[in-house]
Amino acid sequence: MRLSAAIASQMRLLMQLLADALRVAFASFFSKVGYGRTGAGAGTALSVTPVERKVDEGRAQNEMTTPTSVNYHFTRQCNYKCGFCFHTAKTSFVLPLDEAKRGLKLLKESGMEKINFSGGEPFLHDKGDFLGKLVQYCKQDLRLPSVSIVSNGSMIKEKWFQKYGDDLDILAISCDSFDEATNQLIGRAQGRKSHIDNLHKICSWCQQYRVAFKINSVINTFNVDEDMAENILQLNPVRWKVFQCLLIDGENAGEKALREAERFVISEQMFQEFLERHIGVPCLVPESNEKVRDEIMRFLDCREGRKDPSKSILDVGVKEAICFSGFDEKMFLKRGGKYVWSKADMKMEW
Ligand SMILES: C[S@@+](CC[C@H](N)C(=O)[O-])C[C@H]1O[C@@H](n2cnc3c(N)ncnc32)[C@H](O)[C@@H]1O
Ligand SMILES: *[C@@H]1O[C@H](CO)[C@@H](O)[C@H](O)[C@H]1NC(C)=O
Ligand SMILES: *[C@@H]1O[C@H](CO)[C@@H](O)[C@H](O)[C@H]1NC(C)=O
Ligand code: SF4
Repeated sequence: MRLSAAIASQMRLLMQLLADALRVAFASFFSKVGYGRTGAGAGTALSVTPVERKVDEGRAQNEMTTPTSVNYHFTRQCNYKCGFCFHTAKTSFVLPLDEAKRGLKLLKESGMEKINFSGGEPFLHDKGDFLGKLVQYCKQDLRLPSVSIVSNGSMIKEKWFQKYGDDLDILAISCDSFDEATNQLIGRAQGRKSHIDNLHKICSWCQQYRVAFKINSVINTFNVDEDMAENILQLNPVRWKVFQCLLIDGENAGEKALREAERFVISEQMFQEFLERHIGVPCLVPESNEKVRDEIMRFLDCREGRKDPSKSILDVGVKEAICFSGFDEKMFLKRGGKYVWSKADMKMEW
């Protein structure tokens, strides 16, 4: 009797979990932080992307719609000029450190578990110390399970790892080609310094300082025929995110844009061919154009659609500043949205 009651209760729980999983338990949230008072343009932005929450019976509906994953673009600043980039340097405004921390604390209080610092080039401001201090704050004070950075990798020094490496879970470095000439054509080159040598150096620092190492590549006209398998397997990142070059009107395409990326664009078929060529690379995670566009457009739409663009989460709080929109859970899981976030959980061979 007791056994069957236990089974029945297990079944009920299972059914509940299934029902919850079927419900749209995700939403996405986009907000921005504070250049409102300065009246500057879209310089500092927080885009909050949806991430699965473990749904259980006790959780209230509004808890399921809490931002758990946040992309923090604290600067648009980047003196670099990758020909395809959609983050054009419209302003160089950076929120003061204390204000940035306050914004992060508010996000944490409303459920943030994962933060991703991007940009612009996040290591540019204050020689990486601004970024380091935020990473430290997110790990030590806010105790976030996952803290990550996306960078072009050219300005990272070993000193940074010594100071802040402990508090960083994931470092994603952008690398679009293992051929220096191709990098030149794309615009991702740095004088005589080799981007590829640098990548190997960072990879070994990541091992030494126990940071999970990832690679991001944007597939475009100039690298679409390349076979990167050998080089990627050698670097052995925990993930290799492969993006299809994307056009964003007003950023890297269209009349008012600061950059023209049309000549970088490849067809869906070409992108698929690239993916097939790299089928033997197990860490590859393709990021479809639709998905990235969707994320960015909802972010921009929301930002621009806000009634009062001067409002920031620092003024009105997270709940008020958040803009809700629908989210396709299946797409999210399909694109590999669920994975280990925190280096504490990662079973890696260091
Ligand atoms: C805007 S960058 C900011 C961080 C850093 N400056 C970097 O280059 O990694 C963030 C990521 O977006 C990618 N990205 C930039 N423009 C893109 C585009 N048009 N389509 C797809 N991905 C793009 C970059 O390659 C990089 O991996
Ligand atoms: C990365 O960005 C910095 C700052 O904008 C720039 O000076 C550097 O040349 C860039 N390097 C690469 C490889 O993209
Ligand atoms: C972080 O954000 C950047 C820019 O939005 C994106 O390209 C990247 O995939 C994200 N990385 C992680 C680790 O979520
Ligand atoms: S991809 Fe990164 S390094 Fe290149 S222009 Fe964009 S922000 Fe700068």
